[in-house]
Amino acid sequence: MAVLVAGGAGYIGSHMVDRLIEKGYDVVVADNLSTGHRAAVHPQARFYEGDTRDAQFLDDLFAKEDIEAVIHMDAFSLVPESMKKPLKYFDNNVIGMIVLLEAMQRAGVKYVVFSSTAATYGNPERIPIHEADRKEPINSYGESKLMMEHIMKWVEQADGIHSVALRYFNAAGAKADGSIGEDHHPETHLIPIVLKVAAGQQDRLKIFGDDYDTTDGTNVRDYIHILDLADAHILAMEYLKQGHPSDVFNLGSSTGFSNREILEAARKVTGKEIPAEVAPRRGGDPDTLVADSSKAREVLGWNPQYDNIEDIIKTAWTWKQKHPNGYADRS
Ligand code: UFG
Repeated sequence: MAVLVAGGAGYIGSHMVDRLIEKGYDVVVADNLSTGHRAAVHPQARFYEGDTRDAQFLDDLFAKEDIEAVIHMDAFSLVPESMKKPLKYFDNNVIGMIVLLEAMQRAGVKYVVFSSTAATYGNPERIPIHEADRKEPINSYGESKLMMEHIMKWVEQADGIHSVALRYFNAAGAKADGSIGEDHHPETHLIPIVLKVAAGQQDRLKIFGDDYDTTDGTNVRDYIHILDLADAHILAMEYLKQGHPSDVFNLGSSTGFSNREILEAARKVTGKEIPAEVAPRRGGDPDTLVADSSKAREVLGWNPQYDNIEDIIKTAWTWKQKHPNGYADRS
């Protein structure tokens, strides 16, 4: 039986597929390549190009493949874009999930592990954030993911599809050998932009706001290595297969770094000056997001391997140096 990774050509999805294959799983990938890259898909995965909002595409895939569980990472995930185009986010993320669940129901697939986000919490009531804390998203991306979580509760009751929602904090880094990594167009994430400046592809970093309620005034985020994230999905999938109930887990390192601290760490890792200037705030950014991830450690047995921000940035830098233009260098 195989695992379907929806969105398996994306940044997180490609690392997910890589890890599953390394661990001996039979892997099928579905991706419409709207933001993913064909070259990012592991050669041992069976690739189907199509959209998770396309019921016929999914029915055909489930008819051809013997899928036991779905890892659903097919979603738009850019906070600033979601502030400008909320309907795009509700369409792709919420409708996409509904069409996928309907196809799973028809095919009798009972397990789904899906990407949720720290953005479901909005401005958190306390730091570190626990799973049961108040969830009031301040961007439509976070709202779309919270809706996906709510949908699952009712689908489980009615259809017996069991789920784990994994609320990622800030995914970062790349496979250590630099063979796959982050490649978004346009790039909006802090670490890849800092490394673009380090590589001389961009003049300077714009730090969006230095008047937040944090120690140095810049936003604080919790960076978690992409392969540690991937491992949590495998544990969650096996947990469901063992008959455990549906649940929700935070995935973070439990340590916060301000945007300025990330810049300093990147200067150290790369040995480059990395010019930066303060720019106005970007919409939809909470002051601080740091996870309490003890539940994933205790319940799933999750044991993240990367506990040092410089090591995480180093893996992203290796990818950047080997592929300065991302997957365009590999096709
Ligand atoms: N930032 C800058 N300059 C830039 C880019 C980003 O100052 O050029 C700042 C942002 O304003 C923010 C921080 O860097 O303060 C991190 O921004 P990212 O865009 O890298 O990441 P986000 O925290 O906005 O979002 C990421 C994922 C989301 C997820 C969220 C959870 O993209 O999917 O983490 O914390 F929901």
